[in-house]
Amino acid sequence: MSDLRVLSVASEVFPLIKTGGLADVAGALPGALAPLGIAVTTLLPGYPQVMDQLFRPKAVQRWPDLFGGPAALVSAEAAGLALLVLDAPHLYRRSGGPYQDSHGADWTDNAQRFAALALAAAEVGGGLPGGDAPDVVHAHDWQAALAPIYLRFARAEQARRRPATIVTIHNIAFQGQFPASLRAPLRLPPEAFTIDGVEYYGRIGFLKGGLALADHITTVSPTYAIEIQGSEMGMGLEGLLRHRSHVLSGILNGVDIGVWNPATDKHLVAQYDAPRLDDRQRNKAALRQRFGLADDAPGPLASVVSRLSSQKGMDLLLAALPRLIAEGGQLALLGAGDAALQTEIAAAKTRHPGRVGAVFGYDEGLSHLMQGGADTILVPSRFEPCGLTQLYGLRYGAVPLVARVGGLADTIIDANDAALAAGVATGFQFAPVAVHALEAALARAAHLYRDRATWRRIQERGMAMDVSWRRPAAQYADLYKTLADR
Ligand code: ADP
Ligand code: GLC
Repeated sequence: MSDLRVLSVASEVFPLIKTGGLADVAGALPGALAPLGIAVTTLLPGYPQVMDQLFRPKAVQRWPDLFGGPAALVSAEAAGLALLVLDAPHLYRRSGGPYQDSHGADWTDNAQRFAALALAAAEVGGGLPGGDAPDVVHAHDWQAALAPIYLRFARAEQARRRPATIVTIHNIAFQGQFPASLRAPLRLPPEAFTIDGVEYYGRIGFLKGGLALADHITTVSPTYAIEIQGSEMGMGLEGLLRHRSHVLSGILNGVDIGVWNPATDKHLVAQYDAPRLDDRQRNKAALRQRFGLADDAPGPLASVVSRLSSQKGMDLLLAALPRLIAEGGQLALLGAGDAALQTEIAAAKTRHPGRVGAVFGYDEGLSHLMQGGADTILVPSRFEPCGLTQLYGLRYGAVPLVARVGGLADTIIDANDAALAAGVATGFQFAPVAVHALEAALARAAHLYRDRATWRRIQERGMAMDVSWRRPAAQYADLYKTLADR
């Protein structure tokens, strides 16, 4: 039987370009699907970092004018991935981030930049001249979400065949909303601007349009799939999602266990596995040194690796910090984002010398060392579609302490008395997402940390969990097959 062909469309793909978990997912899922008879080609924008890493590039399609300049679709390989790269220099070749300039302001032409990505996806989805069309187009987040719209409206006549479409929601807080005046410039026909299409309170909603039209919608955990159908977490799209709940499902993210393996991780000072947990001490010492932390604190060393935004609950952590320190603990934080939060974190560092350390910026290598050396990894998010750092924590023996929301609720078993007695606990959860509950969880963790044997069993249990892509990849494969068979 020949492979099922999937076009995965994403705005970031590890290791080529990454700002968060979406890149990890888009980068790892294709490799996990290959053994299951699913051949994935990944379509992404031709940012400078991406263009520089291509192997065997070959133009397979050209547009004389794609929203203001010439563009080419380049087939290539990189990092073991089969790629289609949209090389549109007027849209992507600039220094700065994928979504923002170097001052943190959104690129003013993001509508064009990501409509172009989706339009290219629709062209490939409809079948390039001389190329095979994919069976499924899988669009990730708002940046790719117009793909089903363009497939339906722009290619209706030419399409030799329309592939099945999936939109995956990695974070419903980002929806891609733009003024209605962009409809014609974005080559959206008037028929697309309706309540069943991209129209959203008089504006154009990229994610909204994709959710309205996709054959199937997934999100990255079963709990988040339920949460986004309610007004508290649906961010305005809950009604549409309830209406489409029969085609909405939650599939947990996995971890690339080749990249995230404490036994071989080159970013660690000391590699280790479950029988050699004591070797973690050397990573902890290195971490303390890197963050300017005292080496005699009696409590747990807590780490945070996070975007600094209100989603991630860093303000709650700052408020609960005195409790962690009163318990003898320390904090090492690696984060990038909100400038006001950085200022507050820096102030906390000054207030608690030797107890609180912070590195601002993005550092992939350091993020590994933090998982390999911290006693506990903190994820106090207000909402968290899946979350990956708690999964890395499980795999590295950094016991996760998380808010009971979204994928955090689905991946960690709280060390309550019943779970401890049954021998199933893998971390700590707190609810509601509020300072007092976080403080109580920090105190519980510090208390258990003093019970070395129990703490070690929690670490070992987490390390033994299967957080790989094996199960989730099988679920995606089943979904692709079901949709392609229709
Ligand atoms: P989100 O995608 O919402 O940011 P996830 O937990 O799904 O959250 O994924 C975040 C990813 O980005 C993880 O791989 C994490 O290690 C990484 N990460 C976040 N902030 C940083 C940082 N400042 N430096 C290095 N890696 C980071
Ligand atoms: C988003 C979410 C995060 C999730 C990631 C990958 O960035 O915020 O929870 O793990 O996407 O799916």
